[in-house]
Order: sequence, then C-alpha cells, then structure tokens
Amino acid sequence: MVEILREGNVFHLRNDQISYVLCELEGGVLAHLYAGPRLSKLDPVNRLRHAGLPVDGFSVQECALDKLPQEYPSFGLGDMREGALTVEAPDGSCAVDLRLVSAEILQQKPALEGLPATRGEGAAALKLKLRDAHTGLEAELNYAIYGDCPVVARSARLTNGGDAPLSVTRAMSLCLDMADDNWELITLTGSWARERHLHRRPLVQGHQGVASQRGASSLQASPFMALVRRDTTEAAGEALGVALIYSGNFVATAEVDHYGATRLLTGINDNDFAWRLEPGESFQTPEAVVCYSAEGIGGMSRGFHRLWENHLLPKKWVGKPRPVLLNSWEAAYFDFDADKLVAIAKAAADAGVELFVMDDGWFGHRDDDTTSLGDWYVDKKKLPDGLKSLGDRVRALGIEFGIWMEPEMVSPDSDLYRAHPDWALHIEGRDYITSRHQLTLDLGRQDVQDFIVDAVTTTLKDSGASYLKWDMNRHFSNIGSSALPANRQKEVPHRYILGLYAVMERLVKAFPDVLFEGCSSGGGRFDAGLLYYVPQYWCSDNTDALCRCQIQYGTTLVFPASTMGSHVSAVPNHQTGRVTPLESRFAVAMGGAFGYELDPRKLSDEDRKQLRGQIDYAARTQELRLYGDFYRLLSPFEGNDTAWMSVSKDRSEAIFTFVRALAQPNAMPPLVRMRGLDPAKRYRVEETGEVYGGDELMQVGLCCRLHPFGSGDAASLLYTLKAVDEA
Ligand code: DGJ
Repeated sequence: MVEILREGNVFHLRNDQISYVLCELEGGVLAHLYAGPRLSKLDPVNRLRHAGLPVDGFSVQECALDKLPQEYPSFGLGDMREGALTVEAPDGSCAVDLRLVSAEILQQKPALEGLPATRGEGAAALKLKLRDAHTGLEAELNYAIYGDCPVVARSARLTNGGDAPLSVTRAMSLCLDMADDNWELITLTGSWARERHLHRRPLVQGHQGVASQRGASSLQASPFMALVRRDTTEAAGEALGVALIYSGNFVATAEVDHYGATRLLTGINDNDFAWRLEPGESFQTPEAVVCYSAEGIGGMSRGFHRLWENHLLPKKWVGKPRPVLLNSWEAAYFDFDADKLVAIAKAAADAGVELFVMDDGWFGHRDDDTTSLGDWYVDKKKLPDGLKSLGDRVRALGIEFGIWMEPEMVSPDSDLYRAHPDWALHIEGRDYITSRHQLTLDLGRQDVQDFIVDAVTTTLKDSGASYLKWDMNRHFSNIGSSALPANRQKEVPHRYILGLYAVMERLVKAFPDVLFEGCSSGGGRFDAGLLYYVPQYWCSDNTDALCRCQIQYGTTLVFPASTMGSHVSAVPNHQTGRVTPLESRFAVAMGGAFGYELDPRKLSDEDRKQLRGQIDYAARTQELRLYGDFYRLLSPFEGNDTAWMSVSKDRSEAIFTFVRALAQPNAMPPLVRMRGLDPAKRYRVEETGEVYGGDELMQVGLCCRLHPFGSGDAASLLYTLKAVDEA
C-alpha cells in the first residue's frame, strides 16, 4: 500500500510501514511535521504546539521560523539554524522566503534531469511548487514514497523565475527537522584501505556530520548518516538513515539547536559551490532518501538494500549471477606481457574462474603509474598482437575477458595531455598539481566527454571485453575549467559529476551486456550515484581478511552484498603483510561479488586445489549470498569477532560467516545468535550435518566451535543452513 493524502493543508505520504507528513501554514510557509512509523492521521496542532508556535494565525514575525520545523528553510529571515537554500540576489542579499504556490499528486515519479535517481515503479509522488516573491526564484520540491520499502525520496529543482541573474550558493537535497535530540549519529568514514568504518556517537548541541570536498564522495566519507536511539541495536529500536544519490562533494549534517531539536541536512557541499541561474534557467539537486526502521540498524540497512535493488541498481544485473573473476592487479601489477597474462588466465580457467580481467598497465608505455593515462591504445611492447588477440586467447580458454581503464584521468606524460593541456582541471596561471602523477580531466566539457566515450567504446570493441573496471585514482585540486567564464568556476565540481553521469549513461546504454565495475583507489566512490550505472563496486584495495571484515561490515549498512566486489588475495597480504588462512579469506570474500586477486600459479598445490571447490561453492550459494536478506550479528568494531548472515527471502536457506580475529586460548566458543530465520523451521547445517530449530538458533545461538587449539588468528566458519522437513 502506498498513498499520498491531502487533508486540508496537510500532506501525508505513507505506506504500510512509514508516514511522512508536512503542512502548509498561513501565508504558504511549509512546515515539516513528521517522519517515522506509519500513522493513521496527524494533527498539526500537536507538533506546532510542541515547537511553541501559535496554532492559529502563524506568522513569520518575531523570529518564529527559528522554532518552526520546516521542509526547505533558508537562513537569514528569522531561522538561525543552517538553511537548506541560499540564493544571492542582484541586491547582494542571500535569504529566500519560499511560499507554497501549488501542490500536485502525481501518477508517476518524474526522472531527475541529468542525475541518477530512484526509479519510480510502485511509487506515489508529490510535487510542491514554491516561490520567493523577492527574487522570483521558484522551487519545486519533489517527493516519492515507495510501497515496497520504508523510504521517502526527495529532491529540489530551482528555477529563476525573475528577470535578473541569481546565484545559488547552497541547495540541499533534503532537510528533516526532527522534534528532539535524543539520538546518536552513525557515519561511515575512513581512508584508503580503511573505507567505511562505522562511527557512532551521541548528538550534542551544535553541528556534527560528515562531508567531502575532494571532488568525489571519497574514500574518506560516505554520503550517508543515520540517527538511532541510544538503545537501538542491530536488531531492535528506531533507526533513520539518510543517503544521498550523488558521487561528488557532499555534506550531511545533524544540527542540534538550543531547544534540543535536530535538523538533518544533506546535499551538494556548498563549500566553493555556486551555480549561476540566468532568468528561466533551472538547477536540479541530487536526490536524497530517508529510510526509517523500528527494527534496528539492521532493519534500516535492509530497507536501503531493497530500495537500491528494486529501484536503483541496473535492472539487467539485479538478481542475476555474477561471473567469478580473477583480476591481474595483485598478480602482476605493471609487469606483464601477453604470454604471462594468458598463463595466469589459463591457471585461473583450470580452477574454474569465469572471467579474467587485465588491470592497469596495458596502454601507452605504462610500466608504472607515472605515465600514459589518456593514451588508450595498446602498448605493443607488452601486447604485440593487440587487444583482440589477447581477448581471443583468453576466450579460447573458455572464459571471458575483461579490462581496466581510468577514463577520467590524464598523465602529464601522455599524447593526450600534450595535445590538450586545457582538458585537465586547472586554474589559469597557476602550476598544475599532480597526485599519483596524474591530472583530472575536465568532465564538464562536452569534448572531453566525447573523447572518453570514444576511448571506452574503442577499447571495448577492440578487446571484445564483457567487463570493464572503471577506476578513478585522485581527488581534485586546482579546481578550474578553461571552458567556463570566471563567474561559473564554482560550478566545476558539480559539472564534472554531471559530465561523469552523462558519459556513464551513454556507455551503459551502448554496451548493455558489459558488466561495469566501479573503483576509485578501492571503494573511494562507492555511492548510490554510481551504483545507478554499475551494479558492483570494488570495495577496497585492502584485501586482508580481517580488515575486510570491518570494511564490508560498514559497507552493508547502506549497500547490499551484490554491490561489493570482494576477492581472495595472496598472503602475506599486500596491504598489511598479514598471513591469514585461505579458508578465512574465502569466507570473508563470500560476503560480496566474488573473485580472486592473485596469481594462481604461485599458490601452493594444496591451496590451488581448493580453488575449484571454492568456485563451485560460490556459484551454488550465489543467489543466497548476494540477494538474500542481510543480518549483521557481531561487529568487528566492537570486539574480536565478526559474524553476518544472509537469509533467502522464503527463509528456507541461510549462509552464515563467523571470523575470530585473534585466537583466544582456553576460551569457551561463542554462541552466536542468528536472525531472520523461521522460528518454526528446522535447519540443517550442511557442513556439520547438525540440525537445529530456527528458534533455537535465534534464541540460544549457534556454538561457533573453531578447532580447539592452534586454530591461529583469523580463524573462521562458513556454514550454509537448509530448512529440513524433520520434525
Ligand atoms: C587502484 C585500484 O583500486 C586497484 O585495484 C588497481 O586497479 C589500481 N588502481 C591500478 O592502478
């Protein structure tokens, strides 16, 4: 059930699980009333009285806006909190006073121009039109509520309806004024090789949150935050998550004011941002989604997972098998030729791998990372017979061929840069600043977009690749474009992201059968914006099993297993130097879209023999692992153990992973309480043959008996459970 009700001045969006309510006050001021569990009805009186506001005859005088919970507020006209919108008028003033002009309940959720957004199947949509009389600015607030997940999606479209240019210097996608501050804030932050670590802290008066101004959503921060009650756990309690469908600079803040009310804001980061609107021109914000669950953090995550699976990820790949791949990066780095790659691919094919991916180093004269980005023609020294020949040789082994590119970048040492130095982001008159010896192409430019589309098209056609790893390995500096006038330079980062999306749109349409995997120095742009185009994303360059427990655990807060590229690599691990058992590396990698990051020829005979069994297991359990309902059981951020499980939609099967980081001498084995099973069913643990009731597994737990002594560090269990008829 999904519906949008209009009762007088109240708009009530609801489905079976949640309600979102707003209302129009006198004079067209839009108040936010509620986001939470489904309500039958909400009377604005109560909520406004709580905010200390007169119920009749509301007036913006006397700074009443400072107390009013609002839908899309502006700073400077009485509201002292951070606003959602700032627009510079010709007179230099920046405040905007938006008043409701019209409201329309739509049969279909409109698409967002130039931006990825949730697809509206099964959604009900609401369009509110507001206007600021002083500037002529018009704002369209678009809402959608879904029938199949506890989610409301929001975005804003701004149009200059006046006759003088305006400058939008802040345009958030969402503002959510919550009645109290009795919450804790969860964010996902990190670094290279430490992506999406979970942080939880109480809200305090003032601002707190997470942001990126790196040109990408980044390794350092995820465009997501959640409010949870102090007693909320994985399994119970309120959790309200907000995610932005965007891959560039963003901000997500929770501001607790002096009355103890909490304002959530998320949108494009307004630092160094401005967008000029000539009369008649429009600006579209990215879409933000709010996901509410009363079933704990886990319930919120499953809400997000369902939203992305049903309404965002590329349809062609959702619910579909993913090829088990072997990527050449850690197997060879830049040191390869065609024969070496084919030999690795052959060993991989012999073990059952389905797709061989040639990573960085095949083009220009790229023997290290100092050169050749942009010169997307084959290095004849390494691959004398070209891409097609290599692709054919790999395919002759009975497996598919995939390729790596980093299309958004250019090396100063490249023909591309020598021909088009102005195609790189730069500030006229200042020295270029490289990072990883490379510069960023100015994707806001049409000629750059066309170049990238041509280069990727040629590479895919020449090689016949059925998979493309799309990498991006530096953040912005010297942010400027020679294609834009001075008064539009602050548009560069957002124009870049619009350009990126335009390029992705063209390519995924042109190559519907190619599997695109995103990557940005690992999981650096792992966000809902790119997941609209690519169904899976390389989760991290860190393939150490213990580090991956944290990274994957954090990632699942927002994203489903099917989106996380996770591979088994060699030991000692290339990022940490740690030696972990192969079975644990495998158990952790089973948490995502599975593959290998190693040279199988270098494995011990014993380990190599295991590969075939692993790949069979991966294929057998694929649907369950990637598309089941996901439950986090033990957090690596809270203790020595990690556990998670995925349960089939009909609760007849489950796959369970347990990892103990440091061996514990003379300790009792943990009882890990499962979740999501059918209490009335009995389940056989396939690996041990033992049968337990679903109720017992959830109430008592499964005894996770690692080998008694000498199991060593990073020991693990990987179990599949199947419902059996036995009474
Ligand atoms: C960074 C990626 O995360 C790695 O997997 C690899 O593709 C390198 N770039 C290649 O330069």
